[in-house]
Amino acid sequence: MRMMQHKREAYWFYRFLSPLYDRWINPLFWTPEMRSEALRLARLNEHALATIDVGAGTGFTTEGIVERVDPARVTMLDQSPHQLGRAAGKPSVRGCHRVLGDAEELPFATDSFDRYVSAGSIEYWPAPERGVAEAYRVLKPGGVALIVGPLPPGNRAARRLADTWMLFPSEEQYRRWLATAGFVDVVASYVEPRWHRSAKSAYALAIAGTKPVPGPSPLGADLPSEELDEPMNFVRRLRFAGRFVPGSAAGATFVPVAVALALRARLRSRA
Ligand SMILES: C[S@@+](CC[C@H](N)C(=O)[O-])C[C@H]1O[C@@H](n2cnc3c(N)ncnc32)[C@H](O)[C@@H]1O
Repeated sequence: MRMMQHKREAYWFYRFLSPLYDRWINPLFWTPEMRSEALRLARLNEHALATIDVGAGTGFTTEGIVERVDPARVTMLDQSPHQLGRAAGKPSVRGCHRVLGDAEELPFATDSFDRYVSAGSIEYWPAPERGVAEAYRVLKPGGVALIVGPLPPGNRAARRLADTWMLFPSEEQYRRWLATAGFVDVVASYVEPRWHRSAKSAYALAIAGTKPVPGPSPLGADLPSEELDEPMNFVRRLRFAGRFVPGSAAGATFVPVAVALALRARLRSRA
């Protein structure tokens, strides 16, 4: 299960999704209101904060960051050149640095950034605790990390589809990852799009913590990690196809469901 929680599978998923992403994904699943609510926890309270956006994709979250932070101080990192290529065409984030790289192995020195933001990416990381430890490592002491990610759907069928697609961690898991990585003063907030408001379960969590002391995370970077560039042989190709096809199909199913629920919510609000 969690077919897309792998680096190569996620890479190819976004190879195909990228052209549709800004039109069909964010307006449904990660809206400007959710972004504002989440970014509040990142305490972007100074224009000169050195800020990294990990899994920045086409730059939707970065657009929220540069409303508060000088784009020249902002770094966008993603493993997908296709997603970052889309970001390059957006005037609002053109002044940011763009870096191809892995959330679980950030190509930056320890104690480099004032703020770390990652929205909607942790669910694709094969070793999320390693990514959270990296968030800790690259922050300066006193720096704040904000992570936004999905929560398990309440509906049993949706949960099964979600599990086929990727990782939907529990709130307890997010909290444990931040605590074991060394973060303190952890704060969290639930975020959801309008169409989800009638649901009984929570939708996504924005969670932030502060790095108390300099240096790497006590969790360390010795946790196992997948390689995006792992050489492919016949068995690996077969395994890739066996994950990619059902994983993409499960992910794609969420789009028409969300469109239908968004339409229903809009019609109800007009009635
Ligand atoms: C749902 S998109 C979120 C994009 C963006 N943060 C936003 O707000 O729209 C997830 C992004 O995470 C990236 N990603 C997935 N796994 C990654 C990894 N291991 N390292 C870096 N980026 C990764 C994907 O390429 C994709 O662009």
